[in-house]
Amino acid sequence: MKDLIEIIKTRRSVRNYKEDPVSDEDIKFLIDCARYAPSGSNMQPWNFLVIQNKEVIHKLSENGKKAMIPLAEQIVNNPNKAPGFISFLKTKGNNLFHNASSLVIILGNKKSVTADWDCAMAAQNMMLAAHSRGIGSCWIGLVMPALMDEKILKELGAPPGYKAVAPLIFGHPQGKTVMPERNEPEVKWLK
Ligand SMILES: Cc1cc2nc3c(=O)[nH]c(=O)nc-3n(C[C@H](O)[C@H](O)[C@H](O)COP(=O)(O)O)c2cc1C
Repeated sequence: MKDLIEIIKTRRSVRNYKEDPVSDEDIKFLIDCARYAPSGSNMQPWNFLVIQNKEVIHKLSENGKKAMIPLAEQIVNNPNKAPGFISFLKTKGNNLFHNASSLVIILGNKKSVTADWDCAMAAQNMMLAAHSRGIGSCWIGLVMPALMDEKILKELGAPPGYKAVAPLIFGHPQGKTVMPERNEPEVKWLK
């Protein structure tokens, strides 16, 4: 196993995948790692939806792009970037999930007030554990407007009382991913 700090620093959001799928054993391993994440009052308010059906992933990508367009038109604040992004969303065949073989949606129990944070911690465990095994991952926030639609979530098999928090893709990386620039953090010390 690689050194933890190296894993943290070299994990990348992977957007280019090989065809071969991640094994069920690996997905089970990632979910096992997720459940060791901290959670408010140890409520562990998560649930995992594993989607490996290509057609389902494709349909969700198309629904996701459609649901994102009105938001993108409102929120993209960089006029130079906006047309490219919106035309990406409007182009049939562009895949929000970067053609990854597995999509795992971490669902949070609506009754838990800390579910969003707990699920995000579980997501980071999964992404780091994946990287430790050479599996690539990426959080796909762009699909959230579609996943906020109860009908779509139900159709995917989400249990009642849960909301989507962290849609994560996993696959075997194709090529290398360069690290996007990191800013120096602003830190204020009080001693
Ligand atoms: C909440 C969240 C939402 C994200 N949504 C997307 C997305 O929809 N599509 C995508 O390709 N990457 C998405 N990303 C990945 C970020 O773009 C990526 O983490 C960032 O550029 C830094 O790159 P790195 O993860 O390789 O360090 C998301 C990341 C987070 C944490």
